[in-house]
Amino acid sequence: VATTYRIFAPFSPPEAAGHAGPVLPVREYLALREAHHQVDRALIRPGALLPFSLFVLSRAGLRPVVDAASGPAAATPEALAVPGDLVIRNEEIPFYLEYLGTLVPSPELPPAETAALRALVVRERSKALVRDLLVDPRSGERVKEAMGLVRGLVECLFERREVLFDLVSLASFDYYTYTHSVNVAVLCVGLSVALGMGRQEAEALGAGALLHDLGKSALPAEILNKPGRLTEGEFAVIRTHVLEGERLLRAHREIPEGAYPAVLQHHERLSGRGYPAGLSGEEIGLFGRICAIADSYDAMTTRRCYQPAMTPYAALAQLGRLKSEYDGSLLAAFIRMLGPAGRPAGLPRD
Ligand SMILES: [Fe+2]
Repeated sequence: VATTYRIFAPFSPPEAAGHAGPVLPVREYLALREAHHQVDRALIRPGALLPFSLFVLSRAGLRPVVDAASGPAAATPEALAVPGDLVIRNEEIPFYLEYLGTLVPSPELPPAETAALRALVVRERSKALVRDLLVDPRSGERVKEAMGLVRGLVECLFERREVLFDLVSLASFDYYTYTHSVNVAVLCVGLSVALGMGRQEAEALGAGALLHDLGKSALPAEILNKPGRLTEGEFAVIRTHVLEGERLLRAHREIPEGAYPAVLQHHERLSGRGYPAGLSGEEIGLFGRICAIADSYDAMTTRRCYQPAMTPYAALAQLGRLKSEYDGSLLAAFIRMLGPAGRPAGLPRD
């Protein structure tokens, strides 16, 4: 059925992401990406006074769009219309977090919008936190904060499941591990609500999903960011991130035991062709199967250096064709959750 996924932000044509015209050498682009933090457009409305400078990053380069060097500056509609990823300098992340704190509660907004805003703020805080954790995965303080944010996310989605649509409609042009981690957590918690899980289960799954790629913090950047095809040796290094992630998390008592299958099994496949253990069929736990679907779906719908972003529909269709790899009934629930049929009755379709 050719369902239209109008709930998603429209995907921009490739030229909008900086593919047409001159592009920066990969190395320069990656250095810029590393020095900046991707922020979501939904939380930066035209006219908002920003205590941080704003840039647009694309393969064409870094373009300043709001200059707050000499005090808070307003975001203009023209600045926000520049295609590419909206980013801030890493040093200004604390100002961004402070700005997020001023957005909620917002008494003049209707309850539905307040709920969406609250959820978006949790999402943005989680991105900054995962970014920190990828640099310093041993920080007990940060892991504790991560658990608090997961509880916040579960709370938002349990109270008003429609906020899922606000949370998943934010497309970024490039792939950022921290943004991807948060997207996977959102999709997993969303599915736990759809499947009728309890809060505790949802929190365990959400924690595992948020931290599923933490082991990547131990990988050499040259391999992680390699634009071309990986050699067998490099891929073997990539595969170590699963067990490395588990090892890092075991040092933290706050992580619930139920979170581990999501971390350990998100690259296992029903066929037995996954890693690290090559588990097959029933050997893969529920959270492992769910995290595998959410992880693959988000990776497919984000542009990578070796492939353009797929539309949500194309990604779901492709996952559906891989019956030997992904759990069919969970995938069906996942599609129902994201598709218009998954929208609660009475909500407008667009
Ligand atoms: Fe992974």
